[in-house]
Formats: sequence, structure tokens, C-alpha cells
Amino acid sequence: MARPRIKAITPTHNDFLLDSGFIAVLNLAMGSQMSSTPEVNLWPSTEHALEYLRRADSIPHRVEGEATLLEFVPAEARRILDLGSGGGRLLSLVKAAWPGASYVALDFSPTMVETLRKLFAAQSSVTVVAHDLDEKLPAMGQFDAVISSFAIHHLVHERKRSLYKEIFELLAPQGVFCNLEHVSSRSPLLHAGFLEAISCADEDPSNKLLDLETQLTWLREIGFVDVDCHWKWRELALFAGVKPPASQN
Ligand SMILES: C[S@@+](CC[C@H](N)C(=O)[O-])C[C@H]1O[C@@H](n2cnc3c(N)ncnc32)[C@H](O)[C@@H]1O
Repeated sequence: MARPRIKAITPTHNDFLLDSGFIAVLNLAMGSQMSSTPEVNLWPSTEHALEYLRRADSIPHRVEGEATLLEFVPAEARRILDLGSGGGRLLSLVKAAWPGASYVALDFSPTMVETLRKLFAAQSSVTVVAHDLDEKLPAMGQFDAVISSFAIHHLVHERKRSLYKEIFELLAPQGVFCNLEHVSSRSPLLHAGFLEAISCADEDPSNKLLDLETQLTWLREIGFVDVDCHWKWRELALFAGVKPPASQN
């Protein structure tokens, strides 16, 4: 079984920023909601991945978010990248709607990568890439759409932002980034209500939840246009942005 990744922490400015006590003060001061478990990511564990795959289809309301995501992928998209593909659920949905496109499915969990390779073995339009999103994206060419579901919240906030910038650079002009994501609640009470609504007794310590507004602001700062949240149920949100035409870049 792959070992869970729990990096040794030497105190740095960023680690201090991720300390929960400090974040509580920061939330009060900035009016934003953040929660994090610094440097823990259990997804390389086979057990963790299989446990998710067993319950993935039963996450409440996810089909609504997925259906909304499909509305924002450009009809003419020819190359689509899925970040943190897991068992290939989102990619399968998009592939059914864009059968003529080519796809890259990216994940770092050996169990997920093996699952993806088996699922898409007979489909030459899908390339499976094993890559840790904590590291800079590999060279993969240009995409018309970059999609992701419930994956990027496992990265520390600083890496979320730098990944969004790399996604912007990977996109063709007028390409779209659609992120169906787990975001933080505005209060501990709302967070507890979300966990109850999804019948979650053991919160994943790999989660590094960040509020929606900060992420929308980041996308705008990076250069995305038409940035908005198009669907939300409690802590599940579909937000998207478009890379402007080449003449406006
Ligand atoms: C909650 S699952 C979602 C899977 C799939 N997108 C779905 O919606 O069912 C999170 C996925 O993100 C992947 N993931 C988490 N951290 C990652 C990282 N640092 N690099 C690449 N993939 C990562 C996990 O391996 C897992 O497949």
C-alpha cells in the first residue's frame, strides 16, 4: 500500500499562515473563511482512494454541479484536460458529450492512475498522465478546456493560486477553466451542517478548504474573464473563467 504523504514541517511564513488559530484571526480580520490541514495528503494511499471510489457516486447534489459544468465547456472544444481525475467519473461524462475530442486525465494516486488506465484502455483519445499537482504541470500542449472536480482543494492555498496561473497559460484563447470544487463554509456552524448533510463523520485531513470569493478574485487577477460561480450547494461549487481572445491578452 502506498504510504500517506505527511511532509515534515519546518516553520516558515506559509506554515504560520496555515495554522488554524492564526487562520481564525485572519478570518475575523478579513471576513474570509479558510481551513487547512497543512502538508497532509492521504490520496496516495490505496485504501483512501478505494474508500472514495466506493462512495463517489453517492455525494449529494454532485450531478447538478457536473451538469452545470457541461454547460460551460465550449461546444467546439477539441482538447480537454481533467486535473485530479480519480476514477474518471467527470471525464467519462464530458467524453460522452464531446466524443470527438481528445483528453488528458491527470492524477498522482497509483490506484487512480491504474483505474483510469483500465477504464480508458481501449480509447485512444484518452491519455493518462501520472503527476503530482504540487509540482508544476508538465508540458502537455494547449487545451480548449481544463476541468476538475473535487481535487484542487487538496493543494495548499499558495499552490492553488499558482496552479490557476499555469492553467491560464495552458489554455488556448477563449479556452475555459471549469472547477467543480469543495470550498470552505462561511462559519463553523455552516461547515458542521455541510458535514451532516453529506453524512460525513470523518473529515478528510487532506482537505485544505478555501473560500469561493478568494478563488474567484484570484482567477480575475490572473486574467480570466467572465469569472463566476455558476452553481453552489453548501460547500460544493462550480466556478469558471474564460481566457480572453488573443487580441486582448
Ligand atoms: C475527491 S477525489 C475526486 C476525483 C474525481 N475528480 C471525481 O470527481 O470523482 C480527489 C482526487 O484528487 C487527486 N489528488 C489529490 N491531490 C493530488 C495531487 N497533489 N496531485 C494529483 N492529484 C491529486 C486524488 O488522487 C483523487 O483522485
